[in-house]
Formats: sequence, structure tokens, C-alpha cells
Amino acid sequence: MPSAGDVRAWRAEFPITEKYIYLNSCSLTPLPKRGAAALEEYARTWIELGGRAWSQHWVGALDDLRADFARVLGADLDEVALEPAVSAALVTIASSFDYTTRNKVVVADIDFPTDGHTWLALAKAGVEVEFVHSPDGATVPLELFERAVDDRTALVCTGHVYYTSGYIQDVRRLAEICHRKGAALVVDGYQSIGAIPFDVHASGVDFLVGGTLKWLMGGPGMAFLYARRDRIAGAKPTALGWWAMRDPFTFDVQHIDLAPTARRFEYGTPAVPAAYTARAGIALLEEIGVDTVRERHKVLSQRLVDGALTQGWQLGCVRDAERRSPIVTLRHPEPAHVVDALRAKGCIVDSRPGLVRLSPHHFNTDAEMDATLELLAPLREKVPA
Ligand SMILES: Cc1ncc(COP(=O)(O)O)c(C=O)c1O
Repeated sequence: MPSAGDVRAWRAEFPITEKYIYLNSCSLTPLPKRGAAALEEYARTWIELGGRAWSQHWVGALDDLRADFARVLGADLDEVALEPAVSAALVTIASSFDYTTRNKVVVADIDFPTDGHTWLALAKAGVEVEFVHSPDGATVPLELFERAVDDRTALVCTGHVYYTSGYIQDVRRLAEICHRKGAALVVDGYQSIGAIPFDVHASGVDFLVGGTLKWLMGGPGMAFLYARRDRIAGAKPTALGWWAMRDPFTFDVQHIDLAPTARRFEYGTPAVPAAYTARAGIALLEEIGVDTVRERHKVLSQRLVDGALTQGWQLGCVRDAERRSPIVTLRHPEPAHVVDALRAKGCIVDSRPGLVRLSPHHFNTDAEMDATLELLAPLREKVPA
């Protein structure tokens, strides 16, 4: 159990909490104070050193960030690459598969759009996407994947946590299903990494991608790619850049000499300011501990779910906190109206089609959940029966 002093200090990292009830961390966690300090440090090195900042600070910071990601995932350093976005990470992974004998890709219809777009865009290369349909808009039973994966399936690409329902997919069992049938598993872990204790080696997944906008508290512009060790040496991605080379600084334009590590999936110059804020966010996460974060998430989100059910709302998310990330979604015909009404009262939530989405983080309080429920109560009455 963290001390009350620790909890206060972690909340104080987020000045936004002085003004607002912020319940939108599954979209973007606000910048913590130490992230702002890291940005200032980045600016200082740039101002004072110009190009020498690369060798004196920035290349080292990028190496350190790869190590940070590896620690968070339980991966080895050489299994991790830096990416500008999850979308870009998926494109380079997709470019490394051969679709000659297996041209089918399986995705869930409740997955984040880019998880489908990546493979739909490969129709010209013969890729066919089969969507498994969530029976309730919130969960995807493993049997549905089991049924969809066959001897034509190259891979399954799906979320570890679904972005509108918070449902935690059992990616370990899914990996077993895929591998039994000769397919790979590519996991979008954007909504899970930093929120849920996770050991990527134990999960058995082939690839996992994620980024720093949300539970890693590091802001936009930085993402990561994990490739399981045995997936690296034979991989020949065609979507790549000079940072994917063994030694980019030989500046050899005439040959491709891929890095022997997961760096072979990288592109060009990474966003250095994003690396600074990412490192700060991950440092805060490690200080708090992902187990503590998870416990806070369960308590806060369940308080919202139970209160909303008492008021008569219909859930778009999974009811039980054990099977769900802190994402709480409530059905509403005009979710933007609810978002605006709450914002007018100082409570920041978000919407997705047909859903009001609330996502508390460790820095929120029980009292904030109760205040939010009070604000929600009259808005529920506007829902037609
Ligand atoms: C599950 C999931 N995947 C991917 C993304 C976006 O990835 P990117 O914008 O880095 O491509 C998000 C949210 O923005 C997400 O929730």
C-alpha cells in the first residue's frame, strides 16, 4: 500500500487536477511536471549545443528509452524498436510478412481502426482481412478467433485491451491458438502497457506494439515495437529507413545492411522531445509501480461502473474490473452532448460513437468519481427509453 504522502505527491505531478476532474487518460494522460522539466532540459541541450546535442545527449536518451520500454515489457533490449506511432509500427511489421501461401489476416471488429487499416491497405498484395464479430460490442471470445484462424492465416492482429470496452484479451491463450495453427500473433498493446502488469515473454506473442500517449504518461510522438527474438533475424521489412541499418552512420546509400536487432524495424530520425517526455512518464510509472496503478484503476473504475448502473445507464464496457482496464463506457445517443455538459462543469471525459468514455488514472480520487456520477445523473435522463 503506498503512503498517503506518496499518493499526494503523484497527484501533484499533474497540475491539471487543481482545475479539472480529468477522466481521459486512455486518450492522453496530461503532461506531468517532470515531463515539462524534461522538455526544458531537451530545449536547453538544443539551445546550448546545437548538433553536438546528438552525440552528447540525444542518441544516449534514445538508447535509454529503448531500455525503458524493454524493462516495462519484460523484453530484452535487442527485441525493442522505437517507432513514430503504432500505425507506423504495424506497417513495418506488415511489410515483413510473406503472404504467398498464407494471405489471411484476422482482426476483431472492435479493434482500433489502424489494426484493420494496416492489412486492408495490402489488398493489392493479396491480403484478405477477416473480421471476427464481437457478440456484445465489448468482448471477443477466444473461440471466435479459434474458428477464424486456418491454414491460410498469416497472423491475427488484435488488441490486448479493447479501446471502447476495456476488455482484457487473454493474449497468452490467443498466442497458443495462433501458433498451433501456424499463424503469428501481432498485439496492439496501446491500451494495456502501463496499465496492466505484463510479461511479454510469458505471453508468447510474436509482435507487440504500443506507445506513450496513454498509460505510460509520455505524450505523443513516440511508440515502440517488440519483436520476439526468433522473429528478428529472418525479418526483411520493406517499410524502413536509415535508422534500421546496422550502423546508420556509415551513410551507405547503396546497400541495405539491416540491424541484427529489432532496430531493423525503425525508420528515420526519432522525435527527440517525445523521447524526453516518454522517459519522464515511464520513470513516474516505475516509481509508482504498475501493480499500484492497476489496483487504483480497478477501485476507481468500479466505483464509476457501479454508480452508473445504479443510475440506470447501460454499459458499453465490461462490468467486472478484473476483466477490464479502467476504461468505462456508457451508452448514450448523443455522447458529445454529455461530454460538453461535463466539460462545462470542469469534468473532462471523451466520446466514441454511441458512447461516453471515462478513463480514470492513478492520480484521480474516489471523491472525483462520486462528483462525476452526480454530474452524470441528470444527463442519463435525456436518454430515450
Ligand atoms: C488501441 C489503440 N491503438 C492505436 C492507437 C493509436 O496509435 P497511433 O496514433 O500511435 O498510430 C490508439 C489510440 O490512439 C489505441 O487506443
